[in-house]
Amino acid sequence: MKGTIAVLPGDGIGPEIMSSALRVLDAVNKRYKHEITTKTALVAGPAYDKYGIHLPEESIDICSKADAILFGAVGGPVDDQENPKWKDAEKNVILDLRKKFDLFANLRPLRVFAGAENFSPLKPELVAGMNVLIIRELVSGIYFGPRKRYKENDEEIAEETSRYKWSEIERIVRVAFAAATNRKKKLTVVDKANVLETSRLWREVVRSLEKEYKDVKVDFMFVDNAAQQLVRSPAIFDVIVTDNLFGDILSDLGGAVVGSLGLLPSASLNGKKFGLYEPVHGSAPDIAGKGIANPAAQILSLAMLLRHTFELGKEADVIEKAIRDVLASGDRTRDLGGKLSTEEFTSCVIDKLTS
Ligand code: NAI
Ligand code: MG
Repeated sequence: MKGTIAVLPGDGIGPEIMSSALRVLDAVNKRYKHEITTKTALVAGPAYDKYGIHLPEESIDICSKADAILFGAVGGPVDDQENPKWKDAEKNVILDLRKKFDLFANLRPLRVFAGAENFSPLKPELVAGMNVLIIRELVSGIYFGPRKRYKENDEEIAEETSRYKWSEIERIVRVAFAAATNRKKKLTVVDKANVLETSRLWREVVRSLEKEYKDVKVDFMFVDNAAQQLVRSPAIFDVIVTDNLFGDILSDLGGAVVGSLGLLPSASLNGKKFGLYEPVHGSAPDIAGKGIANPAAQILSLAMLLRHTFELGKEADVIEKAIRDVLASGDRTRDLGGKLSTEEFTSCVIDKLTS
């Protein structure tokens, strides 16, 4: 396999965990004789220092010419957000890339690896074996509909509109059906169809597509119930598909159930194999530069990239298994109660990959 990845390390721990992911890529290239190359681009802090903006043309150009984007994290210290170097960095980079590349499908795998049940705030027996994929529509719905502020009878009123076109729903639902086909073949559509018109349209679209994916079992669940079920019995889910607003909330809820930010990867896809792959966590300025960040989420994001952009499912499986095995053996970074540095943990993963 030949290809190019645009590498956007970003800020804080971004460059540290990215260097781990690139070591893993190197090992995969060698073991499977691939020629997947990388090209690094500046975004957020380093881009601001050089060009005075967070997402320079030059970086967009590198992304446009690549097969996929591997993204680290962006953003400055939580108490320095008004500094122009950091103000809106996340929004300027991530939202612009989403828009520019029409990354409409956000995939968040929520997996509890064996031996990592104790990081969940829930009882270990509830989360054991949890393996849910939440698919969130990312570029439409209430976050993108028309909004206004006005006064009526001297009272402030705010309004926004949730709007979905059939085609916008169809493309995300197809991604979900395809994902379910490759997993346990169970798709849960989360909505509020007892109240919302957009939810009713989602259901119509799902029903119209159902017959094309005969081996996938579809069920519908109201979002309030889904929130409850994710906490009470997360193991009942396989793939969940939902709109932008519900997906935003449920994916964070699901992440909290897994319990460790350092283990959660994500992908934002455009339906044509192109995607942006990034850890769910941020730039962790509090631990940046210390060499102690957990690189697992970044490495698992690379695995997703290999799976979805390059269709290298076997390589992705091998990386995921290596992470799982290293964690199970008790070799961990500090956020998971271990003693390993970023580099040491990465070396353990690479040892498993090459053994
Ligand atoms: P954060 O996710 O960066 O950190 C939250 C806590 O988790 C911190 O204590 C941090 O040390 C820890 N943590 C996060 N990732 C870790 C890892 N890989 N290994 C070990 N510990 C880890 O969220 P926070 O502190 O709210 O935001 C910091 C900056 O990150 C802000 O500027 C924020 O805007 C930005 N951010 C960027 C995101 C992105 O690039 N997609 C997403 C979320 C936040
Ligand atoms: Mg969120």
